[in-house]
Amino acid sequence: DESFPHIFVVFGASGDLAKKKIYPTLWWLYRDNLLPKKTIFFGYARSSLTVREIREKCTPYMKVRPDEEQAYEDFWNINYYVSGAYDSRTDFEKLNQEMCTFENGLHANRLFYLALPPSAFQSVSVNIRNACMGQKGWNRIIVEKPFGKDAASSKALSDHLASLFKEEQLYRIDHYLGKEMVQNLMTIRFGNRIFNPTWNRENISSVLISFKEPFGTQGRGGYFDEFGIIRDVMQNHLLQILSLVAMEKPVTCHPDDIRDEKVKVLKSIKSLELDDCVLGQYVGNPDGKDDDAKMGYLDDPTVPAGSKTPTFALAVLQIKNERWDGVPFILRCGKALNERKAEVRIQYRDVPGDIFGGRSKRNEMVIRVQPGEALYVKMMTKSPGITFDMEETELDLTYNQRYKEINLPDAYERLILDVFCGSQMNFVRDDELSEAWRIFTPLLHHIENNDVQPIPYVHGSRGPKEADEKCDKSNFKYYGSY
Ligand code: BG6
Repeated sequence: DESFPHIFVVFGASGDLAKKKIYPTLWWLYRDNLLPKKTIFFGYARSSLTVREIREKCTPYMKVRPDEEQAYEDFWNINYYVSGAYDSRTDFEKLNQEMCTFENGLHANRLFYLALPPSAFQSVSVNIRNACMGQKGWNRIIVEKPFGKDAASSKALSDHLASLFKEEQLYRIDHYLGKEMVQNLMTIRFGNRIFNPTWNRENISSVLISFKEPFGTQGRGGYFDEFGIIRDVMQNHLLQILSLVAMEKPVTCHPDDIRDEKVKVLKSIKSLELDDCVLGQYVGNPDGKDDDAKMGYLDDPTVPAGSKTPTFALAVLQIKNERWDGVPFILRCGKALNERKAEVRIQYRDVPGDIFGGRSKRNEMVIRVQPGEALYVKMMTKSPGITFDMEETELDLTYNQRYKEINLPDAYERLILDVFCGSQMNFVRDDELSEAWRIFTPLLHHIENNDVQPIPYVHGSRGPKEADEKCDKSNFKYYGSY
C-alpha cells in the first residue's frame, strides 16, 4: 500500500528517546527514500512546542551531511506537532482531527510510537483506541520496554493492551533484534550445513552471551535505579539473543513459526535462583581517565543513597531439552566495564583422545554484535614453517574487511521500516514476553526481598572476579579474550 497516505505519530515527542532515536531514524528512512511516498509525521507531548523547537533539539543527533540540507528542510516540512495531555480524550480528538484533515477522507494508515514513561502508557493507549484509530486503513502501535517489572505487572500490561488492540497491531520493540549480527543468527545456523550438526550438547561445552558498556548511568540513574541491569539488558536483549542461538529450526521463516520456536526454547529454561547469579555494582575509580570513570554508581546524584541496584549481573541458564541439557548458557552484562562489546561466544568441548599433550585450546565461534560486526572461529593450526608446533588462529569474517562498501543501517531503522511493512518477525510476541518474565521473576523477587548486597567492582574493570569464577565453574574456559 505504498500509494496510501501514512501518518507516523510520536508520543513523547519532547523526550530523550524521541530526540536521540526516533526522529533521527525517521529522517534517515526519509532521506534514503525507504518510506511510502505520502508519509507525514506528528509529534505529540505535553509541552507547547513548535516543530522548529523539536528540530533544534534533534539536530545534533541527525547526522545531516552538507549535500542533504534541502532534503532535511523537506523532512521537517512534513512534520507537525500537537500538544496535549496524555490523559485527555479531548486532546487526542484534536490530534485525530488534524490527522483526518490530512487524510481528507481517503484510505490511510496510521502508526503510533509510544516513546513514553511507563506511567503514561495506560492512558495513552486507551486514548489512542478511543479517539485516534484510523477508520479506513490499518493502525499499528509500537511500544518500548519496560514492559512491566515482573511477571504479574507485565501480564497486567499485556492484558490491558490486549483489551484495546489485536496482537497483529502490537509491535513490541527490542532493538537488539534489529542488529545485523542478531538478524544473521538464523542464516548462520540454518543456511549452512557446517555448523548445525555440532550445535548441541555433544559438542558444545558452554555458551557465553555478553554485553559490556564502558560508561556509567550518565544522569539516567533515576530510571536505571528502578529497573537494574537485569531488567534493562538481560531479560530482554540477551535473552532474545539466547533464544535465537538455542531454538530449533522453525518450520518456515514466517514470523509466527520463528516466534513459536523461540517460545518453545524459553519454555525449556528453568526459572533462575539466586545461586545461579553474580551481582555487582560499580564504584568510582580515583585514577579514572575522566569524571565519569571517577564516579561510582552511588555518586550519581539521580541514584538514591544506599541503593542496592545491580549494575552488573551474570546468570547461568539451563535449557532442559534434548539438544542442550547440561550446557550452561551464561548471560553476562554490565555498565562501567573495561570496554564496549556485545558478543556471543560458543565454546566447544575439548578434543577427545588428545594427541598433542594438552596444547589444543577449545574451538570457539564468536559472533560479535558490536562494535565491528564479525563472525570468527578460533581453531588450532600447525604453526607455518618447518616446526611441528601448533598455534591458535582464526577463520575470520570481519565485516569492515569483507564488505568495505556496505553501510549497515541502525537497528531502529530496520525495525521501524518493518512496522511500515507489517513484518512482526523481529518483534516480541506476548507469549515470548511472558516466558521471559517467568524465567527472571523469582530471581528478581529474591534480590529485592532479601536485600541482596551487590559485589563492588571498580569503574572500568572487568566486573567482579566472582563472575569469572562462576564462568569457570560453568564449563567455560577463560583464554583471556572475553
Ligand atoms: C538499552 C538500555 O535498551 O540498550 C541501555 O536501556 C543500554 O541501558 C542500551 O545502554 C544499549 O544499546 P546499544 O544499541 O547501544 O548497545
